[in-house]
Amino acid sequence: MSDTNFDLIVIGAGPGGYVAAIRAAQLGLKTACVESRETLGGTCLNVGCIPSKALLHASELYEEAHSGSLTKFGITFKDVKVDIPAMQAEKAKAVGELTGGIEFLFKKNKVTWIKGRAAFTSPNSIDVGGTAYTAKKIMIATGSSVTPLPGVEVDQKVVVDSTGALSLPKVPKHLIVIGGGVIGLELGSVWKRLGAEVTVVEYLDQLLPGMDGEVRKEAAKIFKKQGMALKLSTKVTGVAVKGGKATVTVEPAAGGAAETLEADCVLVAIGRRPNTEGLALDKAGVALNARGQIEVGHDFQTKVPGIYAVGDVTPGPMLAHKAEDEGIAAAEFCAGLTGIVNHDVIPGVVYTMPEFASVGLTEEQAKEKGEIKVGKFPMMANSRAKTNRDTDGFVKVIADAKTDRVLGVHIVASLAGTMIAEAALAMEFGATSEDIAYTCHAHPTHAEALKEAAMAVTGKPIHM
Ligand code: FAD
Ligand code: NAI
Repeated sequence: MSDTNFDLIVIGAGPGGYVAAIRAAQLGLKTACVESRETLGGTCLNVGCIPSKALLHASELYEEAHSGSLTKFGITFKDVKVDIPAMQAEKAKAVGELTGGIEFLFKKNKVTWIKGRAAFTSPNSIDVGGTAYTAKKIMIATGSSVTPLPGVEVDQKVVVDSTGALSLPKVPKHLIVIGGGVIGLELGSVWKRLGAEVTVVEYLDQLLPGMDGEVRKEAAKIFKKQGMALKLSTKVTGVAVKGGKATVTVEPAAGGAAETLEADCVLVAIGRRPNTEGLALDKAGVALNARGQIEVGHDFQTKVPGIYAVGDVTPGPMLAHKAEDEGIAAAEFCAGLTGIVNHDVIPGVVYTMPEFASVGLTEEQAKEKGEIKVGKFPMMANSRAKTNRDTDGFVKVIADAKTDRVLGVHIVASLAGTMIAEAALAMEFGATSEDIAYTCHAHPTHAEALKEAAMAVTGKPIHM
């Protein structure tokens, strides 16, 4: 086979695409991956999961040192300063190490990186920068990009999207965040901790759409307590920029009198949309659904045999681990094996402080499906959280009233993102709440709150 002819070509090297390419190569397929960015790793490694977590971590350390919250532990600091360029440089270093790591893995697994933008020329051929490539199978893993807000121009200086908000050269005095979803709250938290006044404008009556109702209420309580101004049920109707300042016009979502807010930075974070422009999907015969996504079957194959799709470009939550698991499963199908992704058990985590994590059905969704039992345990009653003085939040376990099978777990806690893994594993194995309640959990750990919430499903927690 020549260098332009492959068993599998993957388009896009984000968590969906790069993982699929590596798995396919491990399974013996001659594999290439096309990526137009300078570095591999997609949105997640370059301008998403990794840089946002680097800034969340650094800003949390600064806030702990600066706010005096450690004084009660007998730790005091003098002259705590924040050096944004140094913080940004450390973030860039982590990103560089991880994206470089993917390049190393490509070489190790003999995945060919085709640099440039791919466009279909037929169902089994693409063009990249004037060169034609053919493959028995092609996988679309082109990800997503920021949804624009009509009438609001992102200049990445005063009006930024998530990519701009990850690279601000200094702390804004007042940051207005449009959209109280995951990006708005994570990046709003970063700049709040570093000293900005932050106002979140959210169209709906609560933050974090899609999460459990009780969790969403708790989120509003916690972020208000942390000093964020929340304008819920409010829509942005315009943003005007003049002399480095923005005037944001808002009005009640249901209609009513408009008001203006002044800011020196505005973050637009109202969602993301699939990347399909420029792919010439018509040449491959692949159609989009009404939401602009590529639909696939259980084997991640589109309606066109031999063309697969995974990750943000397909329906479902736009999460890196969902994309990765789909990439692995789709590669296994491409190699003639059977891959499996359980889309009912995909955890989601908001990495603020505390973290918000969930897996499975919300209480509202579970009630619609049948009779349920709910067990709740507050972090205030968890000995480790109490010792660490991080008692915000609770654990909630939702189980089927008849079978006791766990249907959903929702956690608000400093370590919720780590704790949710146990809940996901339990659900993957079809656990009942009793299974979790009778599993020995190490003491003292935050994870004991999950055991106690599971005990509460049948009304018998110990420490409450
Ligand atoms: P992407 O990562 O978007 O990768 C697609 C790649 O395809 C891109 O590199 C793009 O350049 C390339 N591409 C597109 N079209 C072409 C073409 N025609 N030719 C060649 N290359 C092409 N998710 C989490 O699970 N946890 C988090 O903590 C998290 N934090 C996030 C923070 C932010 C600020 C953002 C924006 C997102 C975050 N996400 C997080 C979401 C996560 O980044 C995405 O779900 C994930 O990257 C999707 O992976 P993907 O492979 O489908 O697509
Ligand atoms: P989102 O869908 O989470 O939130 C967008 C919010 O904007 C919603 O609450 C919506 O009601 C609101 N909104 C929409 N239009 C509005 C308007 N005109 N005025 C005011 N509010 C408006 O989208 P977000 O935060 O942009 O994130 C995009 C994706 O990135 C998410 O789907 C998420 O899965 C992924 N992501 C995941 C992270 C994680 O896993 N920790 C972190 C960051 C992003």
